Amino acid sequence: MDELALRGRQVLITGATNGIGLAAAEGLAAQGANVAIVGRSASRTKAAEALIRASAAPGAEVSTHLADLASQAAVRKLAADILARYGKLDVLVNNAGAMHTTRQVSADGIELTWAVNHLAPFLLTKLLLDRLKASAPSRVITTASDAHLGATIPFDDLNAERSYRGFGRYKETKLANILFTSELARRLEGSNVTAHSFHPGLVASGFNRNNGLLMDMAMLLLRPISRNVQKGAETLVWLATSPDVASTTGRYYVDMQSRLPSPQAQDMASARRLWEISEAQCAGVLSRNEGGS
Ligand SMILES: NC(=O)c1ccc[n+]([C@@H]2O[C@H](COP(=O)([O-])OP(=O)(O)OC[C@H]3O[C@@H](n4cnc5c(N)ncnc54)[C@H](OP(=O)(O)O)[C@@H]3O)[C@@H](O)[C@H]2O)c1
Repeated sequence: MDELALRGRQVLITGATNGIGLAAAEGLAAQGANVAIVGRSASRTKAAEALIRASAAPGAEVSTHLADLASQAAVRKLAADILARYGKLDVLVNNAGAMHTTRQVSADGIELTWAVNHLAPFLLTKLLLDRLKASAPSRVITTASDAHLGATIPFDDLNAERSYRGFGRYKETKLANILFTSELARRLEGSNVTAHSFHPGLVASGFNRNNGLLMDMAMLLLRPISRNVQKGAETLVWLATSPDVASTTGRYYVDMQSRLPSPQAQDMASARRLWEISEAQCAGVLSRNEGGS
């Protein structure tokens, strides 16, 4: 998939109302891709749509979908809308993500950071998989983070009921993004649908601006050593477009280079276990100690 071949290709990006996702959507539309964005706020989604249209190449289509990815019902409706609207899907970008310093629970009874950062990409990808296969060669890209370093998946407290630390939980979800990508790649072997995850760097975006004044100030202090959103989106755009990654799958990237993630992120037994538990969490059949209630 080179720059020219991107014309007419259908890309779907979550979390494209701000930050890395918005910059990537602008970059991909500028290269001629048809870009569909997912946002949870009608006004922010409309504003992002206008920005993406302004940078889009002539003929590139820009479309929008509304879904709060914390809700599994909303993810299911989103997937149904996408299947009804687009005959093919060339690139799915699971980018939406957030950190929450206080424990919150989604309408499905799932701890919120886990619901948005891990279960939403898991469920959305599964629901769109047949369309991705029918559109092959196609790609699934998930925005992970070096924040996964040092984390383990708490299989005995997956809903963070016994212990909750905002950044610790965030780290677990970013580890889950990498394990999900490896297991997805394994399951997709031979399908010509590839799966990639990446770390965008420390990016001056809206990240962690939802956690009160202290966190706001911390993010402002980090600005001088943070990248701008365009630089943060660079590896994402490259993964969506470059022929260099057309035949590799299951890898983790930093600055357009394949990089080994932590030992925990390379543990394929954990990846399989996480996949199976995530399926259960999405089916609403949670057991008390493996997935919470
Ligand atoms: N910034 C960094 O330094 C950094 C580093 C490593 C990885 N990352 C990852 O990069 C990704 C993008 O983050 P960002 O830095 O660009 O932050 P951002 O500016 O806050 O953008 C996050 C995006 O996710 C959306 N989102 C959050 N919760 C959602 C929900 N429940 N339903 C639907 N959309 C939701 C936001 O929508 P709203 O506009 O409605 O809030 C926004 O579009 C995340 O996965 C994050 O973990 C960021």
